[in-house]
Amino acid sequence: MSKNKRFVLVTGGAGYIGCVLVPLLLRRGYRVRVFDKLVFGDEGLAEVAGQIEIVQGDICGFDEGVLDDIDKVIHLAALSNDPTAEFAPRANHLINVEGTRQVAEACVRRKIKRFVFASSCSIYYTLNPYETLLDEDAPIKPTAPYSVSKQQAESLLCELAGPEFCPTFLRKGTIFGPSPRMRYDLVVNAFSKDAWDKNRLTVFAGGEMWRPLLDVQDAAEAYINTLELPEEIIRAKPFNVLHKNYRILELAHWTKYVLRDKRSIEVDVLYHDDILPRSYQVSGERFGEAFGYTPHRGISQAVLSMWQRFEQGKGTDFGNPEYYNIAWLKMLTTMQKRLASMGPVLPTVET
Ligand SMILES: NC(=O)c1ccc[n+]([C@@H]2O[C@H](COP(=O)([O-])OP(=O)(O)OC[C@H]3O[C@@H](n4cnc5c(N)ncnc54)[C@H](O)[C@@H]3O)[C@@H](O)[C@H]2O)c1
Repeated sequence: MSKNKRFVLVTGGAGYIGCVLVPLLLRRGYRVRVFDKLVFGDEGLAEVAGQIEIVQGDICGFDEGVLDDIDKVIHLAALSNDPTAEFAPRANHLINVEGTRQVAEACVRRKIKRFVFASSCSIYYTLNPYETLLDEDAPIKPTAPYSVSKQQAESLLCELAGPEFCPTFLRKGTIFGPSPRMRYDLVVNAFSKDAWDKNRLTVFAGGEMWRPLLDVQDAAEAYINTLELPEEIIRAKPFNVLHKNYRILELAHWTKYVLRDKRSIEVDVLYHDDILPRSYQVSGERFGEAFGYTPHRGISQAVLSMWQRFEQGKGTDFGNPEYYNIAWLKMLTTMQKRLASMGPVLPTVET
């Protein structure tokens, strides 16, 4: 298999996107090794566990042996949103920038050419929202720690790029849709959950903010298609990947409309004078031209699929902090401090 260049390492493969991507890679005939710290466990990969290799570890202090026999790398491992990056900015830099450097430099040493990097459209974040579509050539000056770290990681990968190393940056919009490792801290997923749980959606700052959005299945397909495109089309290039730009208010009304036969849902709109919303809308034209298609899945199907899961009693323990990256990180760091001072939770019992 590996002779056919089909053995893929997915860092962060046990996360929200990884748990959709890994089964799809298998269906497309790839062998898969997941390298992940397993911050959220590996239960999201349970259905494919017998068909893949899972290596638990940290990209900070990356062990190059993880790349043995690997042909291509998809690098997802990260602190993966603004609140976690703002909670731990130094760790965010270490993981998202220096950790990326370690994996990428190891790939260069191992002559592994293909490296697809999980970048983000939040690189375009600004407190002075543009009303125009931003493409990949737009000058950007992110200020939020998460966006800065994605931009710095792109820059260092560009410096490493050359005939023997072909990194590509997928600047994905905010992802939505069901995954075996679920997140409800992403806007469409949060709306679906609130519609089920509260019959009510709350929109802040008048819901004026623009966001590009992308279905998690389309994200997974984009990663695999990147592995398969000729190098000259994708070497050291960023691609915005989105289905469509939505205003948050429009999104709330869409969710209400999609669920109209199931529930009557209220949309509350709050206005604030003191919040400057982060807003951006981006163009997916470059992706369309290079890849020959535009991600086609809209939010309707994803919202209905999430509701179908709720109706089956799946993922309805909404109080579980694992569904919200910032809540989980805060809880783990608190527990880590507590355990360090307390020692083992229970005394070891002789049997
Ligand atoms: N979800 C989105 O809307 C979105 C949008 C744009 C870009 N992205 C990017 O896509 C990637 C995946 O996002 P996700 O939603 O699946 O996130 P996630 O938080 O669900 O998964 C991240 C995974 O990375 C692992 N990880 C974290 N730190 C690690 C470390 N130091 N070493 C090894 N593994 C580590 C975690 O255990 C987890 O399994 C991230 O890089 C994120 O920044 C996500």
